[in-house]
Amino acid sequence: MTRVIAVTNQKGGVGKTTTSVNLAAGLAQSGQRVLLVDLDPQGNATMGSGIEKSTLKETVYQVLLGLASAEAVKQRSTSGGYDLLPANRELAGAEVELIELDHRELRLKMALEPVLERQDFVLIDCPPALNMLTVNGLVAADSVMIPMQCEYYALEGLSDLVNTIKRVRQHLNPRLEIEGLLRTMFDPRSTLAQQVSSQLQSHFGTKVYATVIPRNIRLAEAPSYGAPAVTFDGACKGSLAYLQLAAEVLERQAGAIAA
Ligand SMILES: Nc1ncnc2c1ncn2[C@@H]1O[C@H](COP(=O)(O)OP(=O)(O)OP(=O)(O)O)[C@@H](O)[C@H]1O
Ligand SMILES: [Mg+2]
Repeated sequence: MTRVIAVTNQKGGVGKTTTSVNLAAGLAQSGQRVLLVDLDPQGNATMGSGIEKSTLKETVYQVLLGLASAEAVKQRSTSGGYDLLPANRELAGAEVELIELDHRELRLKMALEPVLERQDFVLIDCPPALNMLTVNGLVAADSVMIPMQCEYYALEGLSDLVNTIKRVRQHLNPRLEIEGLLRTMFDPRSTLAQQVSSQLQSHFGTKVYATVIPRNIRLAEAPSYGAPAVTFDGACKGSLAYLQLAAEVLERQAGAIAA
């Protein structure tokens, strides 16, 4: 069974892309077949996977508009050990163009169906917005992973996201679950971070991953080498945390299948 996880938070810069590429690489290292979908016109997951976004002829944009198949567009990230549906700035146009098409919210789901059986995990790196691209990600997904920084406004933003998830569940994708909440760029010395962290745990209980991602400069440096930190420097603290996250995701998955 393939698990499709949308990595989402409408707040910018919370670690969605860092989580997407490093979790993809971590799962791949555990022998999982992974497809990473870059659903952000910024193309950060594409660059961070070692694929030059500016030279691409076909991207997830053509896939969403029905002009190319996912199979034809996907590429291998050799530095990451997974397959990638890349993106670049052309994708920004899809937001407007999708509105005129039938099944505009279902485009990604329909496009992924033929490639699902050859994957164990599909991770979707969403843009920092609750727009039509993100809705396509949420409709295609089984679950949502929410990376977040434990800051003062984090919980407020979370309630908008949870409401969007509820609406998608009601109208478009009844099986959509919350996969988990991931604390990123965590500083254990910050009292505020600890307070927000315990509020998160009291609201969301076991949905909050036990794994915490620390602030770690190697995670920020890796994209400039076109590789996930997990493969670029597997021994740094950030990589170890993402490998632990991959193990936790697999453990939950095994638990869910057994139940
Ligand atoms: N744990 C970390 N430690 C240090 N730097 C980090 C960490 N996680 C992410 N960063 C850096 O913080 C910035 C934002 O991270 P990232 O791009 O993953 O966030 P994002 O949510 O995908 O952003 P956007 O909303 O723009 O898509 C990047 O420069 C990234 O390298
Ligand atoms: Mg991003």
